[in-house]
Amino acid sequence: MPTPSTRLLTFAITLCAMAAAQIPDAPDGVVAGIPVNYTEAKAGTYTLPDALKRNDGNAVKDAKSWTKTRRPEVMRLMEENWFGHAPGRPKGMSFEVTDAGTPAYGGKAVRRQVTIWLTKEQKGDSKGPRMDLLLYLPANAKGRVPVFLNMSFFANNLAVTDTGVKVGRRWDRNSKTQVAAEPLPPPAAGAPARPRFPGFPVEQFLDAGIGVATFNKDDLAPDFPGTEAMGVKGLYLKPGQAKPGDGEWGAIAAWAWGASRALDYLETDKGVDGKRVAIHGVSRLGKTALWAGAADERFAAVVASCSGEGGAAIARRNYGETLAHMAEATRFPYQFAPNYAKFAGKVNEWPVDANLLVAAIAPRPLLLQTGSTDKWSDPYGEFLAAVAAGPVYELLGKRGLGTTKFPAAGEPILNDLAYYMHDGGHGTVPADYGIYIRFLRQHLIP
Ligand code: GCU
Repeated sequence: MPTPSTRLLTFAITLCAMAAAQIPDAPDGVVAGIPVNYTEAKAGTYTLPDALKRNDGNAVKDAKSWTKTRRPEVMRLMEENWFGHAPGRPKGMSFEVTDAGTPAYGGKAVRRQVTIWLTKEQKGDSKGPRMDLLLYLPANAKGRVPVFLNMSFFANNLAVTDTGVKVGRRWDRNSKTQVAAEPLPPPAAGAPARPRFPGFPVEQFLDAGIGVATFNKDDLAPDFPGTEAMGVKGLYLKPGQAKPGDGEWGAIAAWAWGASRALDYLETDKGVDGKRVAIHGVSRLGKTALWAGAADERFAAVVASCSGEGGAAIARRNYGETLAHMAEATRFPYQFAPNYAKFAGKVNEWPVDANLLVAAIAPRPLLLQTGSTDKWSDPYGEFLAAVAAGPVYELLGKRGLGTTKFPAAGEPILNDLAYYMHDGGHGTVPADYGIYIRFLRQHLIP
């Protein structure tokens, strides 16, 4: 009988030997002065950190040893070298329900709006940082429903088509302050009618018996360089500390921390089943969804769209965006723990990789959604990470992808560990929501 770790090794060898190439090669590029490879044969060979080998060298042979020993080790390594350590739930946090249940979407939905005061120590301080949570529940629900919790690039009033939502805030890069997120002006003649990350089809989820909640990442931390000490991260600096230390949180961990605070509220809502909340995000928020799911085991499922480098794509592959691009000073180092950037140019020394991030979500359902032309995000690298994490799902009695064959665009694999590549580019396209709903119904609705 092969042990789980020899199985993993065999997988790795098979994968290196496999010609991938359903993603056609493309000419090399350069981003931020750093070369970009789009040729599968030049993606390089590598050895992944072994999910099923403990730091002391011993193999992980059963579920208990994964859960009690190896998983905590993996989590600490990822905190220290990738996303950064985040604090727990703030003692003074409180929930202010500003809209307790207004009919919306032609009576199909009940809308709630909640201000989550993130005050660190003292309850009732309504001046501290806050996040706005918007929730829709199916009006015809008979009991508590599962909820799809979306992290958005936009304030709640811009994330959905419902005009009854209060105006939120966004960070302004020039003044480095939070300003009102005014409704968008109508698109200029000839311009595309929809934003890059369109709001969700709220009604499609409600029709499937699933509630929808959303919040704006900007409520937690700004999303541009030079903001390491801003947003909620500023609240937790020790006296005299100018910015988070080497293993402390970057913006992604702060956004993920916000997702946990949203879940703190959802657990108290009488219409919501707090044990069936799925977390979702696209792109940098896809990375965030993965980290939120790993860091907070209360999330019952994860849907990560095009998370790419720094998310589910294997960083040791030299294909599309690399750790060096991500950590380049003018780009996204602020999204990670400061330690992360130390591995730019020496990714093989990084003690972690995407296979561990995927494995940390096991045994819970996880869907990785990618796009066939989104080469920058390395859809095949995400598939390989899921294949490499499969043995952890299986050790916990769940179904990994069950194949090493890269599926064609449009062919979902919806096991506990799930992969779906749409035919197209970066982000979520409208047809993907049907796949999300199928996946959620399969795993969260008995
Ligand atoms: C950039 C970045 C990606 C990220 C994306 C996004 O393209 O390089 O890593 O996922 O922005 O968040 O939109």
